[in-house]
Amino acid sequence: MKIDELRNEYKKARLDEASAAASPFVQFRTWFDEALAAEVREPNAMTLATVREDGRPAARIVLLKGMEDERFLFYTNYDSEKGQELSRTPYAAMVFFWEPLERQVRIEGEVLRVDARVSDAYFETRPRQSQLGAWASAQSSMVDSRDELERRFAEVTRRFDGAPVPRPANWGGYAVVPSMFEFWQGRPGRLHDRLRYVRTSRGFERERLCP
Ligand SMILES: Cc1cc2nc3c(=O)[nH]c(=O)nc-3n(C[C@H](O)[C@H](O)[C@H](O)COP(=O)(O)O)c2cc1C
Repeated sequence: MKIDELRNEYKKARLDEASAAASPFVQFRTWFDEALAAEVREPNAMTLATVREDGRPAARIVLLKGMEDERFLFYTNYDSEKGQELSRTPYAAMVFFWEPLERQVRIEGEVLRVDARVSDAYFETRPRQSQLGAWASAQSSMVDSRDELERRFAEVTRRFDGAPVPRPANWGGYAVVPSMFEFWQGRPGRLHDRLRYVRTSRGFERERLCP
């Protein structure tokens, strides 16, 4: 199959003003629950785009780990490329693609570090291997070899032997405070449904976009 012959017709559902929630947070939760019910694999995986120092974009997948107080949480290494990018330009775009439901959600907003206690509480719930990995890996920095990475992992495993693994100070959560949501539902003939919610001084306002 040639790449330019790959083609899908979307016809599973529709998204209209009558059924979509007035609150984008409620709408997101509804779609997220439907993705869970449809057993979408890794429904909390999202593409996270940030801004490099030279103004160019950078994107990678991270996992959504919470939706609290109308903020979307994810965790990472604060010294990583994305962490440095967010220190300079604290704004991000997030994209979810739930293929079995023919849906995309885009969210944009300001990004803040979460309270250290929130990061501590989440770090404690992680499997021990992941906790040790956070110490062993200076995310996004160069490493000479796989062996070197495994040597560092063995070293921290010895260091914390028999003791709880504390959260490294450079590892923690970010909260995205949305200023824009777009809900996209694939439709036949490329006439997809797109509803955008934009934050205004009166709350979120909704508009329909051409596909
Ligand atoms: C499915 C999946 C989930 C991931 N989840 C995370 C995550 O929650 N946090 C994270 O820091 N990196 C996560 N990563 C790795 C990132 O995509 C990326 O490689 C890493 O964060 C370094 O990015 P950076 O150099 O731009 O900072 C995940 C990758 C995949 C494929």
